[in-house]
Amino acid sequence: MQDRKEEPLLRAEGLEKQYKAGGGPFSGKSGRIKAVDGVSFSLRKGETLGLVGESGCGKSTLGRLLAGLEKPDAGSVWYEGKNLTAMGREEKRGVRTKIQMVFQDSYSSLNPRKRIFDILAEPMLYHGLADKKNIREETGRLMDMVGLPRGALERYPRQFSGGQRQRIGIAKALSLRPELLICDEPVSALDVSIQAQILNLFRELQEKLGLTCIFIGHGLGAVDYVSHRIAVMYLGKIVEIGDSRQIFEHPVHPYTRALLAAVPVADPRKRKRSQPLLEGEAEGRHL
Ligand SMILES: Nc1ncnc2c1ncn2[C@@H]1O[C@H](COP(=O)(O)OP(=O)(O)OP(=O)(O)O)[C@@H](O)[C@H]1O
Ligand SMILES: [Mg+2]
Repeated sequence: MQDRKEEPLLRAEGLEKQYKAGGGPFSGKSGRIKAVDGVSFSLRKGETLGLVGESGCGKSTLGRLLAGLEKPDAGSVWYEGKNLTAMGREEKRGVRTKIQMVFQDSYSSLNPRKRIFDILAEPMLYHGLADKKNIREETGRLMDMVGLPRGALERYPRQFSGGQRQRIGIAKALSLRPELLICDEPVSALDVSIQAQILNLFRELQEKLGLTCIFIGHGLGAVDYVSHRIAVMYLGKIVEIGDSRQIFEHPVHPYTRALLAAVPVADPRKRKRSQPLLEGEAEGRHL
């Protein structure tokens, strides 16, 4: 709305991030590892980019750089035309609420001693997104959005199943009304049938809220289900990026071909995004 027509919501330019290698006798010669090695791409508002690649190729590191949780060694991240990398603390804080992350292990991001109500309410009150009068209703709305009963607000994180906890993790991310959601393998730890329900929830939320997302995963199947475009990462670089049709029909990189071989659908071109691939609903509704 407020952004200029052609300006992407997010733009990465030549991002690089190195870490010290583990230090064992078999670690890299230089003693450093390039976790992210020259990544550039842009993301339109409302678009979901799927990010796939083998373990250790740099997906999570890239996610953290984009969310502003870590500083790149080189390159920059542009959010609504502003250089996030060059921003001062104050300015960054304003943007940071607009970018939220959902993690694989939502349990570790939920304080076990707090009720779900407090977990959701405290940041909303702190950032002035709700007040004492409407906080009950606002937290209730979040529960509705992620398919959990409002009564669940009174419970503690340990009283939920993995799938339900992931719904709470998503509610927590949504509580600050983000524009961009970076989801780092949000379904990888879940049972397959629960994965399907959470993926459906993501699609619902994309449509309802017009969210822009980066969706990190291992398998192409799940990632393709929620993504408009897919980027394949290999050894810190994006080796392919395009819509799924392009990737499925003309995989360029050998790693992409290996990923495709693992997709459990005979002809992915026959799938339509509008058709639900996955059935099943609201595992979390019945506590
Ligand atoms: N904080 C860190 N300190 C040192 N090395 C790190 C750190 N974070 C990541 N690395 C290294 O950077 C590389 C990329 O890691 P990253 O976690 O981004 O991969 P990934 O693609 O998310 O893997 P996975 O699919 O297993 O989650 C790996 O070699 C990893 O060991
Ligand atoms: Mg990771």
